[in-house]
Amino acid sequence: MSHGSAPRPATARKSAGLSGRVRIPGDKSISHRSFMFGGLASGETRITGLLEGEDVINTGRAMQAMGARIRKEGEQWVIEGTGNGALLAPDAPLDFGNAGTGVRLTMGLVGTYDFHSTFIGDASLSKRPMGRVLDPLREMGVQVSASAGDRLPVTLRGGTPSAIRYRVPMASAQVKSAVLLAGLNTPGITTVIEPVMTRDHTEKMLQGFGAALSVDTDKDGVRTIRLEGRGRLTGQVIDVPGDPSSTAFPLVAALIAPDSDITILNVLMNPTRTGLILTLQEMGADIEVLNARLAGGEDVADLRVRHSELKGVAVPEERGPSMIDEYPVLAVAACFAEGTTVMKGLEELRVKESDRLSAVANGLKLNGADCDEGKDFLVVRGRPDGKGLGNAAGDKVSTHLDHRIAMSFLVMGLAAEHPVTIDDAAMIATSFPEFMPLMTGLGAWIEEVRE
Ligand code: S3P
Repeated sequence: MSHGSAPRPATARKSAGLSGRVRIPGDKSISHRSFMFGGLASGETRITGLLEGEDVINTGRAMQAMGARIRKEGEQWVIEGTGNGALLAPDAPLDFGNAGTGVRLTMGLVGTYDFHSTFIGDASLSKRPMGRVLDPLREMGVQVSASAGDRLPVTLRGGTPSAIRYRVPMASAQVKSAVLLAGLNTPGITTVIEPVMTRDHTEKMLQGFGAALSVDTDKDGVRTIRLEGRGRLTGQVIDVPGDPSSTAFPLVAALIAPDSDITILNVLMNPTRTGLILTLQEMGADIEVLNARLAGGEDVADLRVRHSELKGVAVPEERGPSMIDEYPVLAVAACFAEGTTVMKGLEELRVKESDRLSAVANGLKLNGADCDEGKDFLVVRGRPDGKGLGNAAGDKVSTHLDHRIAMSFLVMGLAAEHPVTIDDAAMIATSFPEFMPLMTGLGAWIEEVRE
């Protein structure tokens, strides 16, 4: 689904006493993979808690276009997969809208097949680099035709793929996953070396679907993942836990809005995803982890979050991959902390749904925050009382078709002296369609601006 419609500006104003218990929609990474692996496996996969955001729905449509049968029965999604190695040639380009995960993982999944597949996306996705996935696919023998700079539209054709040993050159779960998924339809053992651990949903879920996949971690934390190609995958029952990246928005809102006390239920606590919670706790955040439990092989918990006096910290660089999508909202939290927060090693933020490093720095400056942007770092000096923050003139933050920039700045407005206005709230539907009602239900003052 591509966004061509008129932008929908929105404003957030100073709010206090956020309260209530909320359930966050399903994790986006696990939801994408549930549709992909369910669509590929033999037999039936049943999914509850799936994120019904636009990004994930586009992945579902792509799997349907390649032969998977997908239907909804009450609250459950039911998929009848094609069987590994038996995807069908799509008869039209696959449109992934705004979704980097959808397009990059699916290129891996289908690129080795002996037919043409074409990939397209919206204006944001069409600017993002695909070479990081196309390079290993070329090494495997896939024919690639791409637009200048290895951007979309991309057309792939496989045929006789060969297994490779691939060292992932940047910390990216999408690249790791694309190579492993290409390995599913490749004879022999595909090996991926991951020097810095990133989210491990692909490895865990493929094992759950019956793939012969092993992981060895050496004394330096370097992971070697081996996958035997052309094995059988069998349909599973999946309960998708709440997305920690979406959780981040009400969580930071409650920390910065005075007198708040909220509980967020059923949050995925996989250690490859909890860097933000750890960092906020180091900043003095009152986040109580309740009912820690295992659900479907993943750590899950409820979080009670109360308004807190935050202090600036230096975020350890090696924690980056476990909070990569949360830096924009951490920068917002840092605006209300006493002292300085230093975030380094942020080069990957420049190739997300927008150049998030500059989008955050520009939005912060527009709203009176004191920050410095470097090539790969961001430094924010906070104002605990929020005085001078926000934009009384109503100047709008440019969100650059990026859902997390939109949500982060709406959260900022809840504790700033003046309102914060964003140019477009439409993209929020890609990952968190319930954001507006969920936040206003907690007592946040956020409204769409009718122009
Ligand atoms: C994701 C990996 C991350 C993350 C994205 C989801 C995934 O991207 O930013 O939102 O599901 O594998 P990178 O692999 O580019 O870091």
